[in-house]
Amino acid sequence: MHLAVVGLSHRTAPVEIRERLSIPEHSLASSLQSLRADDQVLEASILSTCNRLEIYSLLRTPAEGVEAIRQFLSIHSGLPGDDLNPHLFALHHEEAIQHLLRVSAGLDSLVLGEGQILSQVKKMVRLGQDHRSIGPILNRLLTQAVSTGKRVRSETRLGSGAVSISSAAVELAQLKVGQEQGFDELLPLCDERITVVGAGRMARLLIQHLQAKGARRLVLINRTVARAEELARGFPDLPIRCLGLDQLDLQLREATLLFTSTGADEPIITRQRLDGLQRHQRLMLVDIGVPRNISSDAAQARLVQCFDVDDLQEVVDRNQAARREIAEQAEALLAEDQRSFLDWWEGLEAVPTINRLRRHLDSLREQELVKALSRMGPDFSERERKVVEALSKGIINKVLHGPTTALRAPQSRSQRLAAMEALERLFDLQGVVDEDGTGANPGAD
Ligand SMILES: NC(=O)c1ccc[n+]([C@@H]2O[C@H](COP(=O)([O-])OP(=O)(O)OC[C@H]3O[C@@H](n4cnc5c(N)ncnc54)[C@H](OP(=O)(O)O)[C@@H]3O)[C@@H](O)[C@H]2O)c1
Repeated sequence: MHLAVVGLSHRTAPVEIRERLSIPEHSLASSLQSLRADDQVLEASILSTCNRLEIYSLLRTPAEGVEAIRQFLSIHSGLPGDDLNPHLFALHHEEAIQHLLRVSAGLDSLVLGEGQILSQVKKMVRLGQDHRSIGPILNRLLTQAVSTGKRVRSETRLGSGAVSISSAAVELAQLKVGQEQGFDELLPLCDERITVVGAGRMARLLIQHLQAKGARRLVLINRTVARAEELARGFPDLPIRCLGLDQLDLQLREATLLFTSTGADEPIITRQRLDGLQRHQRLMLVDIGVPRNISSDAAQARLVQCFDVDDLQEVVDRNQAARREIAEQAEALLAEDQRSFLDWWEGLEAVPTINRLRRHLDSLREQELVKALSRMGPDFSERERKVVEALSKGIINKVLHGPTTALRAPQSRSQRLAAMEALERLFDLQGVVDEDGTGANPGAD
């Protein structure tokens, strides 16, 4: 058995590739089912966020298993392998574990230490459990990742300062407004006419940051106006006008700064739409949706500046030097948690060998017991038979105790595999049949 993660992220693929792979929430269950239908994939879970699509899995064999997942991703995205594979990464065993713990802690995020990723990892665990696509190994690993994510945030200052994609989007707008006026710094947004499209989690964070950065009022557009109104009620000190999506054209004419954060599968703002409007002032569009809410040709419309999640890198790079120091403390915590999972996993690897040794010794015990009892003859009482049987079992348990404890004790994987191989050889366990009817294969992964 072999742990692996195959996928892509903002580090390996631009947003135009990431959006092709994004799996909408309603398709996650069927995607998990397709993955598990492959004989190579023993357990599977999907982490799908705006910046990454990663498939964590327990595979029968590494190369064939990874290939099965690549094929799934190619079919799902409609991208041929030649176009997709250069953007995919595959990490195995310790590297896969380390990667997951870093992701959960927010150390692999575009905005270092952002908090949303931890709830997305929790969601991945819940989905895997609900759809039974994960078994004992991934369940343990993913649960460990959640507690590592929490631990890093409670034991370091990485999560402090309310960092998120939304806060970076607001900072990017501030920076661009500053640069427009000849300053390479973040300016307050008090003079902007601001519109936010979408009223979900990201929109709430956008509004929080906009308020903190000087917005005096804003327009909130959402498909469901009632949801926008509910969100607006959470900001009693900020005048928010709530409108339906049918008012978008009006806002594209009136706003100077417009953020989009909807879960729409297709762009809702295109060049064609913008070109059809009578607009006389600069409009800055900041899109944090993935798939993108604004088509890439919108930047060519007159008086329009367009930014998407990949453009956030510019502002993120400016203010992360201080956070990197805290990130180093977090890496040390991660190393401890990774070791504790590996100790558990490697101890587990020895279980089939221990079970075969037990079965082998037990079968010898039973054979010898039958012979001994038949030699004793009928005078031997039932009680005496039970005492002899208990004695034979007790001896076997005592014999097994030493090797069992030694194999499960923390040690390097190569030491454990060497000990397992020695036991298999000395007790000739190769021929002993496993509980599932297969033969021995010590250390196979
Ligand atoms: N969550 C994150 O950590 C994160 C981070 C960065 C970027 N993003 C991206 O930001 C976007 C929003 O994420 P979220 O977490 O805020 O989602 P959310 O809480 O589920 O909210 C989704 C919003 O999108 C609207 N919406 C959904 N489908 C739509 C459609 N076809 N047309 C118009 N509006 C539609 C919904 O309107 P109703 O109220 O009418 O349903 C709601 O306002 C997504 O593209 C996501 O990938 C998310």
